[in-house]
Amino acid sequence: MTSIDEYVRSQRQRYEEELFDFLRIPSVSTETRYRDDVRRCAEWVADRTREAGVSSVEVVDTPGHPIVYGEHHVADDAPTVLVYGHYDVQPVDPEDLWDSPPFEPTVRGDRVYARGATDNKGQVFMHLKALEACRETGGRLPVNVKLLIEGEEEIGSVNVEKFLVEQKDRLACDAVILSDTGMFEKGLPTITVGLRGMVYFEVRFRGPFSDLHSGVYGGAVENPANALATVIGRLKDDDHRVTIPGFYEAVRAITDQEGANLASLPFDEGSYVEEVGAPALAGEEGFGTLERVWFRPTLDVNGLLSGFTGEGAKTVLPSKAMAKISMRLVPDQDPVAIRASFESYIRELAPEGVSVEIDLFNAGRAWAADPEGPLFTAAEEALEAGFGRSPVFIREGGSIPIVALFSETLGAPVAPIGFALPGCNLHAPNEWLDLDVFHDGIDALARLYALIGERGLSG
Ligand code: BES
Ligand code: MN
Repeated sequence: MTSIDEYVRSQRQRYEEELFDFLRIPSVSTETRYRDDVRRCAEWVADRTREAGVSSVEVVDTPGHPIVYGEHHVADDAPTVLVYGHYDVQPVDPEDLWDSPPFEPTVRGDRVYARGATDNKGQVFMHLKALEACRETGGRLPVNVKLLIEGEEEIGSVNVEKFLVEQKDRLACDAVILSDTGMFEKGLPTITVGLRGMVYFEVRFRGPFSDLHSGVYGGAVENPANALATVIGRLKDDDHRVTIPGFYEAVRAITDQEGANLASLPFDEGSYVEEVGAPALAGEEGFGTLERVWFRPTLDVNGLLSGFTGEGAKTVLPSKAMAKISMRLVPDQDPVAIRASFESYIRELAPEGVSVEIDLFNAGRAWAADPEGPLFTAAEEALEAGFGRSPVFIREGGSIPIVALFSETLGAPVAPIGFALPGCNLHAPNEWLDLDVFHDGIDALARLYALIGERGLSG
């Protein structure tokens, strides 16, 4: 019988060709012009899932983009694993900064460049091929599988959250496995034990009913752009601490064990600075870089819009100003409470001369867990076999809104095992996936499924 790793090695070319087909579909969830492509992408995922050996697969309609849901039962006494991922991608904007077209996957060196290569199509595809490899080498899938691949992760997972809550009996499982996080460094397999949560707002200030001559009226009428900039400026103090009342109240302090684990990681501040390309790092006073990103909440302006931004100079007092503002949350901050204090704080800070509108786009709790029990033992072993090194345990600063809800609703352990490499340009131009990591990851995940099937998940 062929071993998993022999089989996976023999399929290299086919895996890449199929992945590239996946990457050619522009499944941008936030832009309505891609709606049909998003659906086509769901159908594509459903077909590949069937080919992987999952017998019952449906494309479930939602008020937004479809969910691909598959189930395959092998035995009543086999463990049940729920696999989660997303087939939607971020916009390509700014498109002119891409060195090759975002939806024409292009190989340069060891990498394939395309939107979604890492986040999250490449990693979803690794699971499909891992399951397929198990079936091809073992005759059947090694575990009962429930597969949930959504099309709205990048816009907050609202409909999949409803699906999860409504169908929680159907989704019952012994473990949740997903790959939508990072590797600490190339070749160092990584299990994530914490993710930040988030709340995301759009804030609009309106002043005069239309743009005004800034000489004729300037000085006597509140300028919404100035006002919004002032308010934003007050949301953090000089030590980079968020000033929203109560913001830090529920924040858990880092434990000694977490501190020790963090200190043991091969972190190099110099390469981090190089990775981001900023003149210097900045953040909350009193905390190191990894602590700031993994254990501390923060607030960021994601976008700003107001007034004249074209070529040259135009003297104008804008009638409105808009900012997209998000906060990354940590345990045990409550997004509902943070939302309420943010909204009233903005209204309190805004001057009389503007009216204020605030929309909420998404809200989700942070998640953190202890990596203990048979799921994590199996994951450690499988990753070590696939990559030749034992994995590290890290937190991530990013968010996957549904993860906290998985733990709460299904009561099963959740293992995010991700393969995004530092600098892989998630959400940015020239996103790439390392193809060696792709193949090693398929091998490791296939071994993980096989191990879980052999040993079970109880005890
Ligand atoms: N895969 C990312 C999250 C991520 C990236 C976690 C790297 C850890 C390491 C995910 O697709 C993502 O970008 N999520 C959004 C969620 C938001 C839209 C609610 C995020 O974090 O901005
Ligand atoms: Mn993303």
